[in-house]
Formats: sequence, structure tokens, C-alpha cells
Amino acid sequence: MRHFPKVRLRRLRRFGFMRDLVREHRLSVNDLIYPIFLTEGETTTIASMSGISRLSLDDLEALAPSLRNELGILMVALFPHIDATIKTPDGAEATNHDGLIPRAVRRLKACCPDLGVLTDAALDPYTSTGQDGISAEDGYVLNDETCEILARQALCCAEAGADVIAPSDMMDGRVGIIRAALDDGGFKEVAIMSYAAKYASAFYGPFRDAIGSASQLGASDKKTYQMDPANSDEAIAEVRLDLEEGADMVMVKPGMPYLDVLYRVKTTFRVPTFAYQVSGEYVMLKNAVAEGLLSEEILVESVLAFKRAGADGILTYLAPEIATLLR
Ligand code: PBG
Repeated sequence: MRHFPKVRLRRLRRFGFMRDLVREHRLSVNDLIYPIFLTEGETTTIASMSGISRLSLDDLEALAPSLRNELGILMVALFPHIDATIKTPDGAEATNHDGLIPRAVRRLKACCPDLGVLTDAALDPYTSTGQDGISAEDGYVLNDETCEILARQALCCAEAGADVIAPSDMMDGRVGIIRAALDDGGFKEVAIMSYAAKYASAFYGPFRDAIGSASQLGASDKKTYQMDPANSDEAIAEVRLDLEEGADMVMVKPGMPYLDVLYRVKTTFRVPTFAYQVSGEYVMLKNAVAEGLLSEEILVESVLAFKRAGADGILTYLAPEIATLLR
């Protein structure tokens, strides 16, 4: 019978070589996508996220080759911080071909064509409300009107050279509408990674400071379109619809508090599935290490957990640090 004393699971834990031999999951730099904040003018620090800056386009261009060639990072995700004076109720700046993101994509593709570039489809960096879409008078975010602008935003990024469009807005039907717009525009090869199961989470706080949408948003929230943190079956429904509409990859967000959702999504659909270790998670981990409350080992452990739960890749602000530790 398979039990003690014949069975001693500690035999395979006794020596480092044994543990290395039987390890089930391995974290590699190939698993990491690095989210980067951008700004016009000079690079600025982000008060809510120690160690992370909003990069100028010059600094982005200087950083990209080392990310790709020295650290081996395969893809970056770009997020803009734009001046409040160019934000409007409809977030029209999102469709400006000379906007910060399209310019950043063009420069990245010129200096470092091997570095994959992912851009968000969502209006929150651009709206005067801080919402991901266009709001009605009563504040309700309008679904179909928003999808139209998102499709134009996606086209704008694809024209600039983005490899992946990542709709992070949670409007119904947006993946299909964006797919059709990309195909009609001649961008059949541009992939879609949908933020398929994206929760209305308080873990996004530091991000909203980083892109400058926190002050626009004020006391409002995103609960009429992002998912209720209490729901799990609904995540399966969201992912199914996004795949039917043409998503090539799906994402669960936030990360660590939603590992159960990640596991369900991966085991149900067996498609390329990503987790986003969001700004609030980053801040918790980094601050705990900075204060000496926890050891640096938690950084790799926190990201490895996503692999074990079924992620094919992880968007994480820790990407350069993890890549360095893995070398
Ligand atoms: C925008 C967007 C958000 C994040 C990624 N894209 C914030 C939000 O939905 O309010 C969060 C990322 C993070 O917290 O690191 N739609």
C-alpha cells in the first residue's frame, strides 16, 4: 500500500539536485510581460509605486534594447500618462495617430523590432471622467458607443506597429468589434489578448495614480462594467464569449487574489492564459521587502504561483527584477 513507512515524500526533498530534478513548474523570462508607464517630456517618479517611473520616450528607447537583449524580456505593455488638459468626455485622444502611445510604438519598433509590443484598448487614460468608456449624463458608461471608439483606438495602435491589442475595458462585445476592425483595416495578424475576467478591484489604486486617472475618477468606481469580486462562474462566461469573438489569448486580473479563477479558466479552455500581477500587488510585495518585513524571495514565489495555477505568462512590474534574479 502506498503509505508510510514505505512512502516518504521527504526523500525527494532531501538534496537540492533532487528537488531540481522533480520540480513541476519553472519560471522563465519567457513568461514575463513588462508593463511600462509613459509620459510626455521628462521621466517622472510615481509616488504610489516605488521603483517605477513614467518614462519619457527617449528613456523608453534607451531602455528597450537592454530589456530585450540583456534581460531577454519578450514583450512590454504600454500605458500613457497624458496631461489632464487633453482629456475629454469621449477620450478622443485615444484615437490620435500622433498620440503618446502610437509614437512610443513606432519608436520601439524602429529601435528594437524583436521586442513585442502590447497596447491596451480602454479610454481611462484619456477621459475627463477617468472611466474606461464614454459616460451618459447619469454617469453610466455607454457600451456600444464606447466599443466604436475602442475599435478606432485599436486600429491606431495597430497602424503604429503594435503586435497585441489588449482590451481592458470590459464592454460587452468589444473583442468581436475590435477583431472586425483590425481585419477590415488590414491587420489580420495583430493578436488580441483580452482582459477577459477583469474584476472591479481596489488593487488598481496605484495604477490609477500612475496614469493620472485617479483624480478624474474621484469617488466613482467601475462596478457597472468590471466584474464583482464575489463571482467565479461569471469569469468562465466572460472568457467563453471573448474566445468566441476572436480573442487569441485571455487574461485574469488581478493576479494573486484570483488564482482560483486563473486555474478554472486554464483548465476549462486550455488556451493561452495570462495573469496580471497588478499595481496594488506590486506595492504590497515591494513595500514589505523594503521595510524588511519579508525577504526578497517572495518576489519570485509570488510570480511562480501564477505558473502553478496555470498561467502561460504573467504581466508584472517585477519583470526586470525577476529576469535578473533568474539569470
Ligand atoms: C485600464 C487598466 C487598469 C489596469 C490596467 N488597465 C485599471 C483600471 O481598470 O482601473 C490596472 C493595472 C494595475 O493596477 O496594475 N482599463
